[in-house]
Amino acid sequence: MSTPSIVILISGSGSNLQAIIDAVADKRIHANISAVISNRPDALGLAKTKTAGIRTIVIDHTKFTERTKFDEALTNQVAELNPDLIVLAGFMRILPKAFIEQYEGRILNIHPSLLPEFKGLHTHRRALEAGHDQHGASVHFVSNELDSGPVVIQAKLPVLDDDETSLAARVLKQEHIIYPLAIEWFTSGRLSLINNRVHFDNKPVNEIAIWQSDTLSLPR
Ligand code: GRF
Repeated sequence: MSTPSIVILISGSGSNLQAIIDAVADKRIHANISAVISNRPDALGLAKTKTAGIRTIVIDHTKFTERTKFDEALTNQVAELNPDLIVLAGFMRILPKAFIEQYEGRILNIHPSLLPEFKGLHTHRRALEAGHDQHGASVHFVSNELDSGPVVIQAKLPVLDDDETSLAARVLKQEHIIYPLAIEWFTSGRLSLINNRVHFDNKPVNEIAIWQSDTLSLPR
């Protein structure tokens, strides 16, 4: 079998991207990153990509007069790359419905909350405001509803004496652990989405994977 290929979509700093690049370099992920696409020409993640010798592609959404034209450019670019897996790593654009349907079960996203709690933005602030004593991040398959596709793994951590910045930093550190894990599971064939249900080692999953206190419990 040939090495699976990944395309990573970013908009910003790309710390998750860097964690994935490192995991590929260390052979913790057995895949090839064929390109990193950014909708922002100034995304810091682009420099990280270039340093790693990976192809960068910018599709600047501000250069398109209509949203559908940007969607079309992105769709055509990804189709040309023909990846096995599309990884959203801080990609701040909503993907077109047809795109999500075309790549159903082949798009992963990471979201900084314990989904289904706190979909959307400002998750850390909202977790603090709600007085939650636990917070974290989720890797999920992408569906047509924002931050709502089936979850694969969550990193859980206690809320300490945190402000928004410190909580965000603590969660991000855990993101860098769970995202490469989920990607390796997918590219090695252990993880899949069948009939909108997460499967692990060819079995439907009843309990998602949890990373907590440096301990991993596998999906069951
Ligand atoms: C992370 O908080 C991730 O959960 C969210 O966007 C942010 C991306 O950060 N989807 P980075 O660009 O990977 O540093």
